[in-house]
Amino acid sequence: MPIKLNTEYISSFIKDEEFYAIESQVNLAHNLLQNRTGLGNNFTGWLTLPTDYDREEFDKIKVVSKKIISNTDIFIVIGVGGSYLGARAAIELVHSQYYNDLSKKTPEIYFIGNSLSSTALYNILKICDGKDVSINVISKSGTTIEPAIAFRTFKNFLEKKYGKKEAKNRIFCTTDRQKGPLKAMADEEGYETFVIPDNIGGRFSVLTAVGLLPMAVSGIDIDELILGAKLAQDNLFCNDLNKNDCYKYAAIRNILYRKGKHIEIFASYEPDFLMLNEWLKQLFGESEGKDNKGIFPTSAIFSTDLHSIGQYLQCGRRNLFETVFYIEKPQKDVIIEEISKNVDGLNFLTGKSLSFVNEKAFLGTVLAHTDGCVPNVVFKISEVNPFELGYLFYFFEKACAISSYILGVNPFDQPGVEKYKNNMFDFLKKPGYVSY
Ligand code: PA5
Repeated sequence: MPIKLNTEYISSFIKDEEFYAIESQVNLAHNLLQNRTGLGNNFTGWLTLPTDYDREEFDKIKVVSKKIISNTDIFIVIGVGGSYLGARAAIELVHSQYYNDLSKKTPEIYFIGNSLSSTALYNILKICDGKDVSINVISKSGTTIEPAIAFRTFKNFLEKKYGKKEAKNRIFCTTDRQKGPLKAMADEEGYETFVIPDNIGGRFSVLTAVGLLPMAVSGIDIDELILGAKLAQDNLFCNDLNKNDCYKYAAIRNILYRKGKHIEIFASYEPDFLMLNEWLKQLFGESEGKDNKGIFPTSAIFSTDLHSIGQYLQCGRRNLFETVFYIEKPQKDVIIEEISKNVDGLNFLTGKSLSFVNEKAFLGTVLAHTDGCVPNVVFKISEVNPFELGYLFYFFEKACAISSYILGVNPFDQPGVEKYKNNMFDFLKKPGYVSY
């Protein structure tokens, strides 16, 4: 099993009877999801994506990514929310947070159009000066303002630099099969397009072209990724709480929530996990936070954040639990060396690896936080590679859908996201816009 759920550190918080009590609700959630009869059921295409994905599109992603690798110094990925978080999480976890400094054979990759920051957009344009650039704009609706503004800026940048004809060869659009302004523009200009299937929403789209094209450009083996997701699809189908870790995790979250644990902290001991935390936060936050319900997802990187929010976690309000990811075999390791006179008193660690110390920090923290009444759900990941990551993406998508159904909300809509947009368009005096 690529990722293993360890329930040892929640046993003092959840009694066996509580699992029995919630079992029928998990079964019901399973039926709603698998039979596609639950709320938002027309957005459950991701469920069988690892087996019924579009092979032709998949091959096109591989061909196009090779072309981009061959003619591009900088690849700009334009998108917000579910249209960029998965790809960025994968690239940073599999390669490194320092991918852009370390990448030698593949283009540097920058993500933009995920905020309205003029400084961020200006600086990325500056970085692109004098470089060969290609862009991938990703927006299912094609109407989201953040990517739309970044796209028009980069479209003009490319057209000025290369002329309209060559610019066209460097613009790739990932959007709806037929609707929306981005699709219309792509058709009119003749841009290469990739499809976000109708039945897959943004935050469940990482295994479509949304995630796959940027990942392939970075050199991630997308065949392995899909194979990992397929194993998850097979393994996590079983409707038995004791045999399905994904369902067990969904049950644990709901039991803890009902006991007043309203905040979930996704924590990892690996800084390269930072953007995966962001992906998890968006997945759960946007899926569950509705109808005045839902666990509030937040995140931490340990041991870094043990020196900031660690104090709160240990001694603050007891309304939280942690979901901790521990990577058993780091991608790289460093051996601790001796120093003369042992001035820092750490020579007893000479010859030990840094990952050995990190593991002890993990064990010490889980114990301390559990003692401090913070339930710790632990996931052990044997190592980071595309296969395990594919498994992990699918695992948490399914856990989120099951958990949302247990909670009694529609996992696949996001009505609240519209509210700020309405106010913003009002302030912007968008022509034809009618204020609510
Ligand atoms: O999960 C979601 O549906 C959202 O986070 C969207 O991905 C995000 O709002 C971007 O939407 P779009 O791809 O339509 O630009």
